[in-house]
Formats: sequence, structure tokens, C-alpha cells
Amino acid sequence: MSPIGFAVLTVSDQASLDAEADRSGPAIEKILQEQGQNFASNARLIVPDNVSKIQNAVLNWARQDDIDWIITTGGTGFGVRDLTPEAIKPLLEREASGLVHLLLSTSLKHTPLAALSRPVAGTIGNTLVVTLPGSVKAVKENMQALLGAGLVEHAIDLVK
Ligand code: MTE
Repeated sequence: MSPIGFAVLTVSDQASLDAEADRSGPAIEKILQEQGQNFASNARLIVPDNVSKIQNAVLNWARQDDIDWIITTGGTGFGVRDLTPEAIKPLLEREASGLVHLLLSTSLKHTPLAALSRPVAGTIGNTLVVTLPGSVKAVKENMQALLGAGLVEHAIDLVK
């Protein structure tokens, strides 16, 4: 089976000015690298909390044949500059409410603050898009939930 090609989009005003400040993007890549040959890192970008910049990155990647899974990190919270859900939700052709439920229910076991995260998930063509919070801790907890029971692999198989 060919590896699942993934792309990581860090959404952060701060990290867009200083890539060193991006901790969660590299954390996602490391987690997927540790999954062995199943995942291939095919794109990586940092954008500020700006709707059209987020949308451009996601739409470009969704058109690429070698990207099956787009993972964003950051900008899902309640702050006025948190715009990731507003950017991505209108792009989704099919929403994956079950994945959103999984992310929130898992996260709420770790912290009540997860109630302030507004994840969205779904597909654009045959690309899966999932939005994660911006902290490394949250990324680890959410990725563990998504990778458990081969869930993402199965989801991507179904939309290919
Ligand atoms: N989810 C998990 N699993 N673990 C966490 O520590 N932190 C929360 C929440 N979700 C957290 C979590 C916090 S503090 C915030 S502000 C929101 O995610 C949104 O984060 P973001 O704006 O960086 O995307």
C-alpha cells in the first residue's frame, strides 16, 4: 500500500513571523514519522490567522494528487483572531461530524478548555481535512485519537 501523503498547515500570526515559534507543526510531522512508512510528509507551510491565506493553502493542497490528508494546527479557539474554522468550513464538500465529535470528546477528557476549541473536519474531493488546536499538548492528544484503530487510514481509503 502506498503511504498516505500529508500536509501540515500551521496557522499562527506569531509563527508566520518567526518559524522557530512553530512547535505544533513539527510535532505533527514527528508523530506521523513515528508511524513508520505509512505516512509521507509532502508539504508544510505557516500562514498567519488570515482567512484567504488559510483557504489558498488548503485549496492548493487539496488539488495535489500526493496529498491525501491536510492537518491544520492553531486558530481553532474563541479568540477574535482565531479564524481557522471560518476559513475551512466553507471549503468542505462533506463534513465529518464524527471526527469532530471524536476530537472534542477526547480533548474534554484532558481539559475542560477543549470546550473552547472549534474543530472542523471533512473532505474536499478525496482529501481529508482536519483542524487541530495550536498547542503541542493538544496536538499529541488529538493525533493519538485520530490514529487510534487506524481511523484516518480507513477514512482516506474510503474517499480515494
Ligand atoms: N485539546 C486538547 N486535547 N488538549 C488541550 O490542552 N487546549 C485547549 C483547546 N483544546 C487543549 C485542547 C485550549 S487552551 C484552546 S485555547 C483551544 O484548544 C484552541 O486552541 P487554538 O486556538 O490554539 O487552536
